[in-house]
Amino acid sequence: MARCFVTRDLPGPALDRLRGAHEVTVWPEARPPSSAELAEGARSAEGLLSMLTDTLDADFFDGCPELKAIANYAVGYDNIDVSAARERGIRVGNTPDVLTGATADLAFALLLAIARGLPEAADSVRRGEWQTWGPTAYLGREVHGATLGIIGMGRIGRAVAQRAAGFEMEVLHTGRGGVPLLQLLARSDFVSIHCPLTPETHHLINEAALDKMKPTAFLINTARGPIVDQAALRRALTEGEIAGAALDVTYPEPLAGDDPLLTAPNLLVVPHIGSATGATREQMATVAVENLLAALDGRPMPDEVS
Ligand code: DGY
Repeated sequence: MARCFVTRDLPGPALDRLRGAHEVTVWPEARPPSSAELAEGARSAEGLLSMLTDTLDADFFDGCPELKAIANYAVGYDNIDVSAARERGIRVGNTPDVLTGATADLAFALLLAIARGLPEAADSVRRGEWQTWGPTAYLGREVHGATLGIIGMGRIGRAVAQRAAGFEMEVLHTGRGGVPLLQLLARSDFVSIHCPLTPETHHLINEAALDKMKPTAFLINTARGPIVDQAALRRALTEGEIAGAALDVTYPEPLAGDDPLLTAPNLLVVPHIGSATGATREQMATVAVENLLAALDGRPMPDEVS
């Protein structure tokens, strides 16, 4: 039996499976543990089931000498210094595949919502401002037949492309067999980000990139907040350099209600809900627990970060 620390309660039966095999402590609150609370909780743990809100770096690892395995409850693992983990012989797993469909659905929901002005239209009904049907009222942009540029043609990018095919969109993408980023930005009516956050993609969408986009184009981000330079995005929206943006991810998270970004027009921000369906979150729990059980048993993790 190994000691495991789980940094948030998880939906579904997966945690009971972990409890059946190991001694498990679950962080009891809905907020993430602070870095001191995380260090304390994991101090004598051999297994850690972490969230994307937990920063796991060299300093943290130095305080957890027993740690053998981390199962991150996310496909992204930019919260973990993987090379520092590897140097200490700590194995790291993530939860790919199971959240692909839900995240691609949300990217498409954001795309449709921002193109057709759904938040403003729904708000106007709630406020009792809807007077009558009008030929020029609530006009949005066409989605079907438009050009979608996908940055990062991995699992989620490909799933978004499949959805775009149903809307008869032309799809451009970066990477192998695709087009250079600047060309994609210049030609797309919608740009959707699906690459991981790395030093290379940090602020990939900066002032120069936004400048390349059409003034009629929309930006969608369901990947990681810091891929977009938010100050540059705010300027581009305010000055009408692009038509709108819909973000599932920001920095920081949560974004404060008085963050300057939220003063920009034609902006929709939702609270990092790409994978937030009951079914997907239960499957993520299953994958994370299977990763931890395997590593603590000395077997390969089903989804190990290479
Ligand atoms: C992930 O798994 O990386 C997602 O951002 C969680 O919703």
